[in-house]
Amino acid sequence: MTEPTIIRHDSAETFVAEIRDELVLLAQQAIDQRGVFRISLSGGSTPKRLYESLVKTALDFSKVEWFWGDERNVPHEHPDSNYRMVKEALLDPARVPEKNVFPVPVDPQDPAAAATRYEVTLRERFGVSDGDKAFPQWDLVLLGLGDDAHTASLFPETRALDVGDRWFVENWVEKFSAYRYTLTAPAINSGRNVWFLVSGSNKRQAMQQLLGGECDPARIPASLIRPSRYYCTADALPEQPR
Ligand code: 6PG
Repeated sequence: MTEPTIIRHDSAETFVAEIRDELVLLAQQAIDQRGVFRISLSGGSTPKRLYESLVKTALDFSKVEWFWGDERNVPHEHPDSNYRMVKEALLDPARVPEKNVFPVPVDPQDPAAAATRYEVTLRERFGVSDGDKAFPQWDLVLLGLGDDAHTASLFPETRALDVGDRWFVENWVEKFSAYRYTLTAPAINSGRNVWFLVSGSNKRQAMQQLLGGECDPARIPASLIRPSRYYCTADALPEQPR
C-alpha cells in the first residue's frame, strides 16, 4: 500500500490550477489506454472551483463519463443538489453531452430504491454484473473532507460506514434529519486514483487526524479511505515545525 502524496498550496489559485492540470493529464492517459475516463465527482464548495476551471481545458468531453460519489436527497433542481452545482459550474458551460452524464436518480420518497437503481447504472457502465463481488475501477474519485472528517456522504456514526457488499447506498444522517446518497468506502477505494481536495482552516483538525494515522471510522469516516493524493491549501494542514 503506497503512502498518499500530500500536495500543499499556499494559494487557492495554484491549488485549483494544479488539480485541473493533473486531472486533464490523467484523463488523457485513461482515454489513450481505455477509450474512456470515468470520474466520480464530489459535492461541496471546494471542488466547485475545480469544475469551473475545467470548462476551458483541452479535456475531450466526448470521452469522459461523469458520476456522483454522493448526493443530497433533493430534486436535481434544488439549490442543495450536487448535480445542479456541477451542471451550473461545468456541464452546461462546457456543453457536456448528456449521454455521458449519470446523475443519481434521486427519489426523496424512496431513497433506498434510488440508491439501488444507481448501483445498477454503475454496474452497467463498469461492466460488472450483479452479484459479482468486484468494485468499480474509477479512473478518478474526487473527495472533499468535512470538518467532522466525513467524506462523500459517509458521516460519523452512520450505517453506510459499515457497508462492505454494496457500491452505493442511501444513508440516514441524524444531524441533518435527512437521507443522503453515497459511495461506500470499498467502492471509493477501488478507484485507480483517489484524490482528496481539502481547503480551509476548519479542516485542519480532520487532516491532523488523518495524517496522524488515527483510524476510527465511526468518528473519522475519512480514515476508511486509501487516497493516492491529498491536495491541500496550507491553512488546512497542521502547522509545520519551524
Ligand atoms: C457534499 C460533499 C461533502 C463535501 C464536504 C466538504 O455533498 O457536501 O460531497 O462530502 O465534500 O462536506 O465540503 P467543502 O469542500 O465545501 O468544505
